[in-house]
Order: sequence, then structure tokens, then C-alpha cells
Amino acid sequence: MQQRKKIVAGNWKMNGSLAANAALLDGVLEGLGQPACAVVACVPAPYLAQVQARIAGTALALGAQDMSAFASGAYTGEVSAAMLGDFGVAYAIVGHSERRQYHGETDAKVADKALAALAAGITPLVCVGETLAEREAGQTEAVVGRQLAAVLEKLGDQASGMVVAYEPVWAIGTGKTATPEQAQAVHAALRAQLQSAGDAVAAQPILYGGSMNAANAAQLLAQPDIDGGLIGGASLKAADFLAIVSAAN
Ligand code: G3P
Repeated sequence: MQQRKKIVAGNWKMNGSLAANAALLDGVLEGLGQPACAVVACVPAPYLAQVQARIAGTALALGAQDMSAFASGAYTGEVSAAMLGDFGVAYAIVGHSERRQYHGETDAKVADKALAALAAGITPLVCVGETLAEREAGQTEAVVGRQLAAVLEKLGDQASGMVVAYEPVWAIGTGKTATPEQAQAVHAALRAQLQSAGDAVAAQPILYGGSMNAANAAQLLAQPDIDGGLIGGASLKAADFLAIVSAAN
């Protein structure tokens, strides 16, 4: 079987400043070289132009943290996939649990965003994940399966262009990382669901996110169905982020 692409994406969330992000980028780029895996910085929208200019000609790809489900029009405050593409954005996070929680994003909305991303040539990083209550109730695979099913139904065979990110909500920003076994069990279930949509869809990477860091990355990435990471806190420190990139190579 062909080796699946590996991706390490940093989600800076709403952190940093023009100066701080410039320093972070310098640190990452100084140590990045030409890694075997894809490396992405998902930056706050106001910094896209600055980051695009800084990473030109390097192995670092530009990502967005969200985008509109609409192509254009009277959607105040939203940013379209085409506008992201104007800044060379190659990846866009859609359906992050913080968007689902704080902005009421539904499975249908996430699916629409994934489709809009693909229409603009942007790879959607589709986030799925359960809450602690859902895990403790034994609903983990039902929840992530439902979230993924909505996207697979909307995308059809275009699903071969998306990347899934499993982010257990209870592990995000908490330091309580899923064990490699816990993560692999969910990744395997997601892989089986992708396989039901065909080989090309199942060949897409599934990333893990939720307190992945320099210390635990290698163990998580050694799992057969974990193809990379979506990194929050640890992406804000260049050395830690680069250590995760190294573990993925
Ligand atoms: O999108 C990645 C993020 O949700 C994970 O955050 O801080 O737990 O690595 P963190």
C-alpha cells in the first residue's frame, strides 16, 4: 500500500502579535529545512499577508483556522476560500471544536465549509471529536462517525481531497493527551469509515490533535492510522513544533 502523506499543522489560534508571530516564524524556518512531511502554519487571518511573504520559497505551507461556507456575498465578517487563496492558503481548518462550541457550527455547516474549501483548491482539515461526557458515555465512535458522515455525504468522491483531524475535545489545551491506544482506536474507526467511501478517500491522512507535544509525538505518530498532528499550544514554541515535525519524518 502506498505510504500516506504525513502532515504536521500548527494551529496558532488567536495567539501572538505581528512581532511575536514574526519571531515564531523565524524560529520555525531556521530549523525546518526540507522535511519529508507537509508542515503547515494555520495563522490568524489578519496575519496572512505577513506570513505569506515570510514563508515564500520555504517548505512551510500556509493554513487558515476557519473560512466561510459561502463563495461570496453579504456575510459580514466572514472570509471566503477564494480570499484565502489570494494569500496562498493551502489548508483550512474546518469544524474545530472551538467553532462548534462557541459559534454553534453544525455538522452540516462544517460539511458546507469543506466543500467550499475544495472548490477553491484548498485542502480542508476537517475536525471531529467527542467531549469527555460523550466518551464516558461510550459514544465516542458514534459522535465522530456522525460528524464525519455529514462531510462524506456532502463531498461524495471529492472527499478524496480532504484531511480528517481527530481532536478529542477533552484533550484540547488540557495537557490530557489521548493515549496512543485510545487515539489509534478512533483513527482506525475513522479509517474504516473513510474506506467505505473508497480507496482514494481512505488513502487520505488522519491527523491527531489534543495536547500533542515534543514528548508524546513519537508514540502517537508510531500508530498505524495516525498520519500527523494538528498542534495547538506546542506550535507556539518553535523548538517544540520542530520536534514534532522531526518525529513525523
Ligand atoms: O487544533 C489543534 C488544537 O485544538 C490542539 O490544541 O493546545 O491541545 O495542542 P492543543
